[in-house]
Amino acid sequence: PYDTKVDSLMSLMTLQEKIGQTVMYSGGWSVTGPVVSSNNLKFIKEGNIGAMLNVYSVKGTRDLQKIAVEETRLGIPLLFGYDVIHGFKTIFPINLGLAASWDLEDIEKGSRIAAEEASAEGIHWTFAPMVDIARDPRWGRISEGSGEDVYLGSEISKAYVKGFQGDDLSKHNTILACAKHFVGYGAAQAGRDYHTVNMGQDELRNVYLPPFKAAVDAGVETFMTAFNEINGIPATGNKFIFNDILRDEWGFNGFVVTDYTAINEMVEHGFAENEKHATELAIKAGIDQDMMSSANRLYLEELVNEGKVDVTLINQACRRILLAKYKLGLFDNPYKYCDEQREKEVVYKPEFLEAARKSAAMSSVLLKNEDHTLPLNKDQTIALIGPLVKDKENILGNWAAAGDRKGKAISVYQGVQEYVNDSKILFAKGCEIEGEDKSGFNQAINVAKKADKIVMVLGEDYDMSGEAACRTNIKLPGRQTDLIKAIRKAVPNKKIVLVLMNGRPLDLSEEDTLADAILETWFPGTSGGYGVADVMFGTYNPSGKLPVTFPRTIGQIPIYYNMKNTGRPIPPDNPKEDYKSNYIDVPNTPLYVFGHGLSYTTFDYSDIELSAPTIGFSDTLSASATITNTGNYDGYEVVQLYVHDKVGSLTRPVKELKGFKKVFLKKGESKTVNFNITIEDLKYYNADMEFDVEPGEFEIAIKGTSDFDFKHTFTLE
Ligand code: IFM
Repeated sequence: PYDTKVDSLMSLMTLQEKIGQTVMYSGGWSVTGPVVSSNNLKFIKEGNIGAMLNVYSVKGTRDLQKIAVEETRLGIPLLFGYDVIHGFKTIFPINLGLAASWDLEDIEKGSRIAAEEASAEGIHWTFAPMVDIARDPRWGRISEGSGEDVYLGSEISKAYVKGFQGDDLSKHNTILACAKHFVGYGAAQAGRDYHTVNMGQDELRNVYLPPFKAAVDAGVETFMTAFNEINGIPATGNKFIFNDILRDEWGFNGFVVTDYTAINEMVEHGFAENEKHATELAIKAGIDQDMMSSANRLYLEELVNEGKVDVTLINQACRRILLAKYKLGLFDNPYKYCDEQREKEVVYKPEFLEAARKSAAMSSVLLKNEDHTLPLNKDQTIALIGPLVKDKENILGNWAAAGDRKGKAISVYQGVQEYVNDSKILFAKGCEIEGEDKSGFNQAINVAKKADKIVMVLGEDYDMSGEAACRTNIKLPGRQTDLIKAIRKAVPNKKIVLVLMNGRPLDLSEEDTLADAILETWFPGTSGGYGVADVMFGTYNPSGKLPVTFPRTIGQIPIYYNMKNTGRPIPPDNPKEDYKSNYIDVPNTPLYVFGHGLSYTTFDYSDIELSAPTIGFSDTLSASATITNTGNYDGYEVVQLYVHDKVGSLTRPVKELKGFKKVFLKKGESKTVNFNITIEDLKYYNADMEFDVEPGEFEIAIKGTSDFDFKHTFTLE
């Protein structure tokens, strides 16, 4: 509906003004508000900037918008973008944690809340969701995605997009979403950020692309390029992935922004001779907006004048960006996101904090619970030990947007105080997250000796994950493992609960032998302390399941549940057999598998029932299992459907998640959970790179974890 409007506006624009729309610069933030350099103010006035990042608040955005609207020749409003990744001010658990809830409704609700808050502070556009599949826990940005699985990642991708963009972009509380980083960013060699990516078409199309396709299907308006090269061509200059796949195959018609300075980086990659050449390569690959490179501003006009870049490419980029501004309604009212009253009312609404508390509880994964160590009894004396017990800074995790790392966050200590009288809470820090200092150990041991139960809150610093935060050692940092050992030794018969906060799968092999219970809470966000305490005291019966594999040791990486088989798989009854695909020092299996997560109750799964042993191409197979709550608590269970395509023109993974349902069961209750499977669910990119299904035999199972052996099959013919 906006095409004619864009046409008539563009007919008035000079080439330089069109290029201006393709330029984005960053403001900064000081204690008093946004700061924008005098250069950038000048560029805005000249019509040389189309979008700003990192500027927020009604006042901050209004001041700049006023310049764009009132002091430029054509009055084209600016677009304000920001990294609203897992909340804006009310911070939800980190995205890997949100994925552990397997709760699409909750994830959509969380991103809706983030959009409400961000839009009330002048933001039009979030650089989220990050839908990169990540299978390497060394990579710091594994914390920002939904883990290792294609199906789960794709479903979550859609939920985020729907939450941010809502059902009508012209509303003042919806924002543009951005699927990033296209593509392969999570597959960086050796888990090192920005590093080289090499992958064949099978892996690209069947693993790394689907969550992006899901975002397109959900109507995502923008895409961001990845920093990495892929098969020798930097993503930001990669015609194949942007022009051929994203535009031609998928029909995406929103706009593409680069990652920060990614155009210039093509020179360092060794793909462009200089920045001007890089600018040419990017626009020719279908990249519309330049984040921070200055490349488009400096070189595009020259490239057009020299006949190296066709002006239609610039028209196309400008048009796509203007369309987004029209869709947001910025031409009708450029200040529609600038309402002081709304800003005051919306941010940190009690109901948002409550939703974040619930998400924190739902994201927690109970990895281990010997002898019903959890839930805790509120009449007992509890020793809270560890550097993260009283923490309000790290608990928000990385990329915490405009979240308050001091006052607002609720620590685990405060969460426990909601349940237990202060006289029964003992505290000792024990040690720092990092460093060698063990001088706090004695006090921690004394406190442990006086308590009935010990809760240790340990983990990583928030900036040990996220961008440029990769590790070659994925154990608990500093002296934290020694601290558990010291306490275990001092009180061998007392129950120890380990509560973890971290942004990646850790190597917990030692901790697994030391703690009686382990609760993975990731970085649980602003209301994290409350949510985690709700789980610890049984107000919320844990239902989180791992969205990513936890290895026994870093040497097993990459390790994920849906690997391919080999020609020499290990025999189940003799995993150490020589000349089979195994290690001589550790088993092939991880410490905690994808899909694993305990509850305070137990769930029994009946055998799967299939509607038919054989189906045709137009049939629907119904697969069901009865799940019974056989324990003593009501609770949710995430029921998972797995399939194995036994023979393919390309080898297929040993297991693939194809569906899941989160069901609530009262104690003693049984429910039958049904999945319908059609050929659409069985298709993949085959040897000819066609998305198709191949007849043959499939194994199938319905379980509460990915750790099982298939017992049932069906045939497609
Ligand atoms: O959105 C981010 C991206 O994920 C990493 N580089 C910086 C961008 C803008 O902050």
